[in-house]
Amino acid sequence: MLFLLLPLLAVLPGGENADGFEEPVSFHVIKISSFYNDSWERNLGSGWLGDLQTHTWDSKSSTIIFLWPWSRGNFSNEEWMELETLLRIHFIVVSEAVHRRVSELAFQYPCEIQVTAGCELHSGKLSGSFLRVAYQGLDYTSFPNNSCVPSPLGGDAAKRACKAFNQDQHNKDELHHFISDTCLRFLLGLLDAGKAYLQRQVKPKAWLSRGPSPGPGRLLLVCHVSGFYPKPVWVMWMRGEQEQPDTQRGDVLPNADGTWYLRATLEVAAGEAADLSCRVKHSSLEGQDIVLYWEHHNSVGLIILAVIVPLLLLIVCLALWFRKRCSH
Ligand SMILES: *[C@@H]1O[C@H](CO)[C@@H](O)[C@H](O)[C@H]1NC(C)=O
Repeated sequence: MLFLLLPLLAVLPGGENADGFEEPVSFHVIKISSFYNDSWERNLGSGWLGDLQTHTWDSKSSTIIFLWPWSRGNFSNEEWMELETLLRIHFIVVSEAVHRRVSELAFQYPCEIQVTAGCELHSGKLSGSFLRVAYQGLDYTSFPNNSCVPSPLGGDAAKRACKAFNQDQHNKDELHHFISDTCLRFLLGLLDAGKAYLQRQVKPKAWLSRGPSPGPGRLLLVCHVSGFYPKPVWVMWMRGEQEQPDTQRGDVLPNADGTWYLRATLEVAAGEAADLSCRVKHSSLEGQDIVLYWEHHNSVGLIILAVIVPLLLLIVCLALWFRKRCSH
């Protein structure tokens, strides 16, 4: 059993910790603030557990929307209320700072500020935390080790902002408190509260199709794998037991229901497709790989052709015959 499992473990990207989560796991927030002029602004905020959105900031009511029943993690209602209050103050302070910068000619309208901040977990411990700020879509400042570093793209304005931030130790302590201590505590609580959902196993469905012809006498074989969870998956075109290294793996794309989709393609000469197969390994399959043969796929097409066409002809003949009889 172990012998059979070893190759599977070797091919699945990313290790898993004892709790069955893919490593590393992260929580981060994204904030996008747009300032059109000195009286029009819009704030978008969201919270993310890895790829999965868990929170939205509702700017109309200035409250946090919890997208999953477990999105509160292990924070108490008091803690959430405190966080909401802090965020409300944060939005006001940032808005005032931006308008001030515009009046100082450091920024200009329309103005777009993007912020992302979060922390990463490895083997149950904090493995990194980050805060990055962008202005007009370009890096502005980052905060490695809780101190502000201006981006070369940020110019003098970013340099001045960092100088002001770094002068005050209190700023660094606050930052550490949020993106390291609080974030880690929240992430651990969130993983625990959402365990049943996050550790579910959903089996992929796979099917083959023919892609647009890459050239005369060439075929593009497409293997679709969809509906699987968690994200790590192994898909390869095979000739017998031989992996085909020319297999092109697409991006793993999200389905609307939280599962994933991936396609793997292989370009071959038309005569060489016969003994090819697509093999799929996924943790939900428990070692029972999905194997789809191109030949069968093709013969399914032939069977359909062989059954449907005569059937259609028969129906048409019957219809004509009935019509004739009725008119008589
Ligand atoms: C600010 O921009 C908004 C949206 O375009 C516009 O409706 C509003 O009149 C502008 N206000 C000023 C003071 O220019």
